[in-house]
Amino acid sequence: MSSTLPPPRIDLYSDTKSKPSPGMRKAIANAEVGDEQRDEDPTVRKLQQMTCELLGKEASLFLPSGTMGNAIAYRVWVEPGQEVILDKTCHVLHSEAGGPAALSGVMTRILDGTDGVFTGAQVEAAIRPLGRYNVPQSVMVSIEQTANAGGGAIWPLESIEDVGAVAEAHHLALHMDGARLLNAVVATNVSAESYAAPCDSLWIDLSKGLGCPVGAVLAGSADFIHNARRFKHQFGGAMRQAGIIAAAGVYALENNVERMAEDHANARKLAEGIANTEGLSLEFGLPQTNMVYFNVSEDRMTAQELHEKLWADHGIRVGVSGAQRFRAVTHIDISAADVDEALSSLNAVMMN
Ligand SMILES: Cc1ncc(COP(=O)(O)O)c(C=O)c1O
Repeated sequence: MSSTLPPPRIDLYSDTKSKPSPGMRKAIANAEVGDEQRDEDPTVRKLQQMTCELLGKEASLFLPSGTMGNAIAYRVWVEPGQEVILDKTCHVLHSEAGGPAALSGVMTRILDGTDGVFTGAQVEAAIRPLGRYNVPQSVMVSIEQTANAGGGAIWPLESIEDVGAVAEAHHLALHMDGARLLNAVVATNVSAESYAAPCDSLWIDLSKGLGCPVGAVLAGSADFIHNARRFKHQFGGAMRQAGIIAAAGVYALENNVERMAEDHANARKLAEGIANTEGLSLEFGLPQTNMVYFNVSEDRMTAQELHEKLWADHGIRVGVSGAQRFRAVTHIDISAADVDEALSSLNAVMMN
């Protein structure tokens, strides 16, 4: 947050900006708790059970963050010096402080996907030849649903199945960063279980579209989660009376999934308005989910200038993601009226 400006009234910076609702706070206050590190917290266990059912996986593990979900999965599947195949835009490559390299000695093989989505053929071509001891061994493929830096693009089920089939044929693990998997589920009506089926491991985030203050849940086979629990502890992620925060996750899975359709409708409305504002242009076209990437034309102003005017004069924050580029993300605390206000404010700033 800028040190000189008051907190924004309408915060489109990210779907991580939502605050727990009164209903969620009540669930938190009433949570039954125990010692999570000993697997004795009933609310954590309930959340894990719900996640297993949602994703059709044998076991799951409550974590403090999605970043830790990636770090643990990479640690389980990859030995130092081995290689993970992933997209050039993915979060784990750019926004996790080099965790997989620092914690697990992971090498990355970077693919040039389309809006964060790549094909089985691209994976096939990137897999290192067997029997060559001078090359890093390919052991894992990592995908991101939805693809954040791809404009919130949805990995189609067929693409995941395609990549999964190649991974399986070459004995590579398939991991999904499912930070916004449930956005994809709500947008397509394809079940979370179907998206998860080709994946050996995946996690969902609670602190994004679901509106929780903290947490993620990692899932996979019983064996995978057995190993994951050890690394969670090594990475400092084992907790004590974590039911306090898991209760928010239980509440969110029961109440906040279907409503994400509103976020998608709001993102679309925002994008349509931006497309009709002179001097602004959409980067990925109309959004598939809750993210709108857009640009301000160079001959008008910089992204930083627009950002500051919008925030200082109108109390609205968007994320600056380049010299002329922005990302705006809708979420549970953004209403349709907020989108109208954001659009008229954008218009006012551009008219000046
Ligand atoms: C695609 C993606 N993966 C991973 C993360 C990390 O999740 P967390 O903030 O729960 O660590 C984010 C967070 O913004 C994300 O957008």
